[in-house]
Amino acid sequence: MCGIIGYVGPRPAAQLLLDGLKRMEYRGYDSAGIAVVNGTGVTIEKAAGKLSQLEELVQGRLPKGTLGIGHTRWATHGAPTSTNAHPHTDLLGRIALIHNGIIENAGAIRTLLEKRGHTFRSETDTEVLAHLVGSLYQGDLEEAVAAALREVDGAYGIAVVSADEPDVLVAARKGSPLIVGVGDGEWFVASDASALLEHTRSVIYLDDGEMVVLNRQGYRVRDLQVRRITKAVNQIEWDLETIERGGYEHFMLKEIFEQPESLANTLRGHLLDEEGTARVTGINLSDDELAGFDRVVITACGTSWHSGLIGEYMLEELARMPVEVEYASEFRYRNPVVDAATLVIGISQSGETADTLAALREAKQRGARTLGLVNVVGSTIAREVQGGTYLHAGPEVGVASTKAFTSQVAALALITLRLARRRSMSILQGRQFIQALRALPDQIQRILDKADEVRQLATLFEGKRNALYLGRGVNFPVALEGALKLKEISYIHAEGYPAAEMKHGPIALIDESMPVVVIAPRDAVHAKIVSNIEEVRARGGRVIAITSDGDGEIARLAEATFTIPETLDLLTPILSVIPLQLFSYYVAVARGCNVDQPRNLAKSVTVE
Ligand code: G6P
Repeated sequence: MCGIIGYVGPRPAAQLLLDGLKRMEYRGYDSAGIAVVNGTGVTIEKAAGKLSQLEELVQGRLPKGTLGIGHTRWATHGAPTSTNAHPHTDLLGRIALIHNGIIENAGAIRTLLEKRGHTFRSETDTEVLAHLVGSLYQGDLEEAVAAALREVDGAYGIAVVSADEPDVLVAARKGSPLIVGVGDGEWFVASDASALLEHTRSVIYLDDGEMVVLNRQGYRVRDLQVRRITKAVNQIEWDLETIERGGYEHFMLKEIFEQPESLANTLRGHLLDEEGTARVTGINLSDDELAGFDRVVITACGTSWHSGLIGEYMLEELARMPVEVEYASEFRYRNPVVDAATLVIGISQSGETADTLAALREAKQRGARTLGLVNVVGSTIAREVQGGTYLHAGPEVGVASTKAFTSQVAALALITLRLARRRSMSILQGRQFIQALRALPDQIQRILDKADEVRQLATLFEGKRNALYLGRGVNFPVALEGALKLKEISYIHAEGYPAAEMKHGPIALIDESMPVVVIAPRDAVHAKIVSNIEEVRARGGRVIAITSDGDGEIARLAEATFTIPETLDLLTPILSVIPLQLFSYYVAVARGCNVDQPRNLAKSVTVE
């Protein structure tokens, strides 16, 4: 995610800001910029690409001044260009602002300001916020920022400076991390403690709705009504490496635990509660055009292919749309039957996977309409498809995909909802679906709160070399994903199977040494999967079941169970996959494997 750094003190700001940004490089970013204030104005330098490009740009002519802000951007609105990079300025170019997060009502504010004569250079929501602050500025930056933030919806961590107040830096947060560093006669703000550590270990953690004003005398914390708040100064105990992973032992674990937030970000701004439908404007198709396709083909690789399979269940069941899901590597070399009546959806976390890209190109060349569900903004797939939606899950560093998967399923749920409402779903069903979607982030949190239980279950895998994962219906793809996660990072051979298909082959493998993970929430096929569990037990297999809260029946049959909250049948994968991700993580750690960089695997496979 984006990185924020700000400095007020006696030292030259520019180099200090660049060094701070460098400390946050591990978070992933695609452009960077700084703004430095001195007696004559505010100087802004920014560049697309790596920090080294910005450094090259300013080499030998670092902007002078001892107060400034710096930003690394991970694009959410608009491609990663230097125009879209932060800082952004207001209409007069006197105020500079950097921002993490998403301003949901930026479109409406932009239209309002345009009517008043504002013109915008970038496609970002951040520039809109900078203009809004500028339009409210009457000689007091603190007041103007508070007034602007009272008008915006969404999530933000921001830092703002003004050429007219060369001694003041204002920062604020809501839903995006921001801390204040208290040094010796100098003060900092940062989105990430790693940027501060070489200067100070004394920090103040801002809470949502709080604003800090730094000047050369010190700092003060206020709420958005500019009322005073007293905050404690804390000491950071962690070392740098631990901080980069947010205190988690591995990126993968951090990313698993980020899912309540990443999922909320995927859904943010898309749900229309009243109409019981979803707004997915990025797909660039009207409701009629969307409903007019004969069929949908979903193409992807790895974990993304599994989310595509879940999309098939959702689209067919709710929108009554025929769907096929194809490995991109197979699709591209077949002679696929697609034409203008086919909607081809490519799913890719990175947006760079060579097979998925080639499959989409092939589909487009045959006249199909292409959409992308992509996490990395400005990636090749995102640029080449005719429409789509970004996942907004934040950068995923761990090679084994976790939070991107749940966000992909959520994005597919949004498309399903929109299409289903146009074709077959009632407004009441639509509202019920939205309610269930909105509940998911808290439900994921409830599962994560029980992570220790999963850690216990993982001990059942000690010394095991094989495992079977079974699921039915929409949880069959979850069985595939659970098995993939286990083999990717722990190198235990695992297979995912539709539970009823087990009797046609894999049942031969079952004995006392074979752990069988069964995904069996209380859904339409519950009674069927209970029979499958009996079949495993009859052959001495050891069952670990993922069930719904309060399911005594399966608890009696299985050797161990882990329960998840109830949701609509078609949305259970977003919950049932979480214990499986944790499970493979704990098994791999217990086996001493390199969880974040498993052998032979790459995060982004840009070759065939
Ligand atoms: C690689 C990764 C997987 C990922 C797959 C597809 O194999 O190791 O975790 O699921 O690529 O990647 P994509 O970026 O297209 O989702």
